[in-house]
Amino acid sequence: MPGTSAASTALVAARGARPTVTWAAVAMAAIGRTDTEENMESTGQLRRRFPRASEVARFVGPTFRRHKTGRWSRVRTVSDFQALARRRTPMSVFDYVEGAAELELSKDRAVAAFDRVVFSPHVLRDVSRVDASTTILGRTAALPVVFGPTGFTRMMHAGGEAAVARAAGRAGIPYTLSTLGTTSIERLAAEAPTTDRWFQLYVSKDRGRSSEFVARAAESGYTTLVLTVDVPVAGARHRDVYNGLTFPPSLTGRTLLGMLGKPRWLFDALTTEPLAFESLGAAQDVMGLINTVFDPSVSLADIDWLRSQWVGAIVVKGVQRLDDALDIAAAGADGIAVSNHGGRQLDRAATPLELVPSLADAIGGTAEIYLDGGVRSGADVAAAIAFGARAAFVARPYLYALMAGGEHGVDHLTRLLHDDYVRTLKLLGITRTADLNRDIVSLMPT
Ligand SMILES: Cc1cc2nc3c(=O)[nH]c(=O)nc-3n(C[C@H](O)[C@H](O)[C@H](O)COP(=O)(O)O)c2cc1C
Repeated sequence: MPGTSAASTALVAARGARPTVTWAAVAMAAIGRTDTEENMESTGQLRRRFPRASEVARFVGPTFRRHKTGRWSRVRTVSDFQALARRRTPMSVFDYVEGAAELELSKDRAVAAFDRVVFSPHVLRDVSRVDASTTILGRTAALPVVFGPTGFTRMMHAGGEAAVARAAGRAGIPYTLSTLGTTSIERLAAEAPTTDRWFQLYVSKDRGRSSEFVARAAESGYTTLVLTVDVPVAGARHRDVYNGLTFPPSLTGRTLLGMLGKPRWLFDALTTEPLAFESLGAAQDVMGLINTVFDPSVSLADIDWLRSQWVGAIVVKGVQRLDDALDIAAAGADGIAVSNHGGRQLDRAATPLELVPSLADAIGGTAEIYLDGGVRSGADVAAAIAFGARAAFVARPYLYALMAGGEHGVDHLTRLLHDDYVRTLKLLGITRTADLNRDIVSLMPT
């Protein structure tokens, strides 16, 4: 009856003056419905019944049951790792990883470029089996991914470089140790003996010291030398200045607060070996030491100089122009990493994803081209390969994973990257990494 309140119509039965309450009526009242003829018409004569307790339990059970699928079940993307990393490490340490130079435009653009990728998938292809593997510099890798070099890694998590290298080995991909590593060349080799280990070199003002690194890397079974060429001087990373970040992290009023708020990180840092640049050796004057690490006079001739003492592959990292890439390939480099150092050096630098196609077209037959910067998923890896890269370098994502959950975190990241990559290939109608090509990918104009 129009005008009658829902509650009174539902709750008052016709047995004498006392209202009789039925569950169905209460439920109807709760959702503001009455069994007027009007309603019966609008619902098309729904025949209602009283649910059994077991049905209700089955319906609401999953909402309240504890998830037993493991602590990583709700971490599905690099952003999830990033959020966890932020919660688990002091702000100055998180910002050291997250931050970039000046206005951080290079970094943001490198990541955002992947939002412009458009795939054009094939259909009606048998994708029941997919081979995600590839060869990088003649060695098989389970995925077209390389973990790039990052300095200071034990500052992010006590597991440090060794944890990341072991996880890379389990995933069947190469790992690159930085000159500024907090684990020595030899210790990393001992801790991750089966990983394809690459060593990243900053050519030092003291060439004798650089030669010594090259010899140690060769002696310890590293397969590839990565010469980073975009650091004639350190970039201007303002976050580190605002945060008062020093190496090793020291306690000032500001940093103390940040570190006390992360007791697990602090406990690990205090109860494991003190942080040091293990390959470079201990130094009283850390900043002075770093200044000797970067030699602003490094030139093309140094590729020849390196070749004279290293028999393995040489990759030049930090290339942002076609003419430079041509010169570097002509000088005998085996690989070129198209990179702006994750935006940590020159700001307003070219975006790696936009550069890769032209460099791959011009040089791909002579030297392998790698995309370095902005990769955040297996789909991004697939796009990079389709645009002509041999492999994608990944850096911040494994640091987020390490900060979020140590070695297990990095294992979870490699699983996600693998699954995501394989799923993307299947959805593209492609069964082998080798079949990814320019035909299935384009970049939306800005
Ligand atoms: C915390 C941190 C430390 C890094 N240290 C080095 C380094 O020692 N040598 C080097 O060649 N690149 C270094 N990089 C740059 C990375 O190897 C890589 O070029 C860049 O981070 C790629 O971008 P992505 O983080 O978006 O993957 C570092 C990057 C980060 C985030």
